[in-house]
Amino acid sequence: MAEIAYAKGLEGVIAGESRICKVDGKNGRLYYYGYQIADLAMKTSFEEVTYLLLHGALPTLGELSDFSARMRKSRELKSPIIDMIKNFPRSSHPMELLQSTVNFLSGYIEHRIEHSLSCNCRQTLHQIAQLPAVIAAFDRFKNGLNYIPPRDDLSHGANFLWQLRGIEPDSEDGEIMDKCLVLHAEHSFNASTFTARVVASTLSTCYCSISAAIGSLYGSLHGGASEKVIAMVEEIGDVENVVPWLDAALAKKQKIMGMGHRVYKAKDPRAVIMEKFLQTLSNKYNNHDKLEILRRIEKTFRERMEEKGKPIYPNVDFFSGAVYSLLGISPNLFTPIFAMARSSGWLAHILEQRSDNRLFRPRALYVGEIDRPWPKAENRR
Ligand code: COA
Repeated sequence: MAEIAYAKGLEGVIAGESRICKVDGKNGRLYYYGYQIADLAMKTSFEEVTYLLLHGALPTLGELSDFSARMRKSRELKSPIIDMIKNFPRSSHPMELLQSTVNFLSGYIEHRIEHSLSCNCRQTLHQIAQLPAVIAAFDRFKNGLNYIPPRDDLSHGANFLWQLRGIEPDSEDGEIMDKCLVLHAEHSFNASTFTARVVASTLSTCYCSISAAIGSLYGSLHGGASEKVIAMVEEIGDVENVVPWLDAALAKKQKIMGMGHRVYKAKDPRAVIMEKFLQTLSNKYNNHDKLEILRRIEKTFRERMEEKGKPIYPNVDFFSGAVYSLLGISPNLFTPIFAMARSSGWLAHILEQRSDNRLFRPRALYVGEIDRPWPKAENRR
């Protein structure tokens, strides 16, 4: 039989057109609607970037003020949602809670849900605005603390820290948190975004599409890497242990978390910015332990891989966990924070999918048997 070519994991297959995000893996560049990630991270807020992703253009001052006001008004959780979070098994991972809650939220919103562009999720913004409150509430209940209502005078990132810690963050911490969300807001057709588009292509709701995407992001090959990076840093313990630890891990063919990327064949531009945030916070809190260990891992890993002719660079998750740790956030919230940020990109893709929809329906190359003789039940072994 002639060999039929196919792309395992759909790798490299172009599954549609998109204007939202360009990832230039060769040169380590990333754009949202044509704007460079460094400009977006240093000059905008998460709310402004969300506007850009949902509308395809940067807002005027008036549009931004109206959009921010609407998004901030949507932050508060209704009491049945708070009760659901309170009653969710404490041993669950917050990603499991987040996935369940997004669908639960759809029953308590005041906007019309339609399987089309006229669905007004772009106006009410619940799936984006309420996720910080859900994550913060779950973490606080787990720790025997009370729910903290949102504040509408704080940015999206600063309000998350407020609802999580119950202490108003200073402007630097609030700004770094908000900018981390900008860095994670969008990344083209990766597994979770593709999942959101596949679900949207069946004309399912935006809530179902986003909850499916959250499930996809949960895996450690995708969104779960930053949690694993911090576990690795803690296991290594001291900068002097990096080289022997790494050599032993590579000898066991272990994947080094936070390193490598399907698309980037240069240092991920988001990792470059994240590293700067980590440097700022390490100086501010006079705690350089994680930064030193991570930099030693990066250097040694690159040397070892270059010896094998395989240059591999850090991805966005390599430094993000250490940034969040210095902001007082526990590791099991790192992936939920990623989801909280990416919800704006997912929604942008759902709307784009609806604007020119075609049901996703790939085929499989069947490699099983056919026409097998039917065995009677009593003869089966
Ligand atoms: N640790 C060790 N080896 C790695 C590696 C890592 N983190 N990332 C890639 N490699 C190896 C691959 O196994 C491959 O080796 P091979 O030629 O012997 O098969 C080689 O380097 C080239 O890999 P590449 O094709 O560039 O990457 P990939 O597409 O196979 O894998 C990931 C991409 C993201 C799945 C992989 O890098 C990985 O698992 N990284 C760790 C998890 C992570 O940080 N995920 C978050 C991504 S944003």
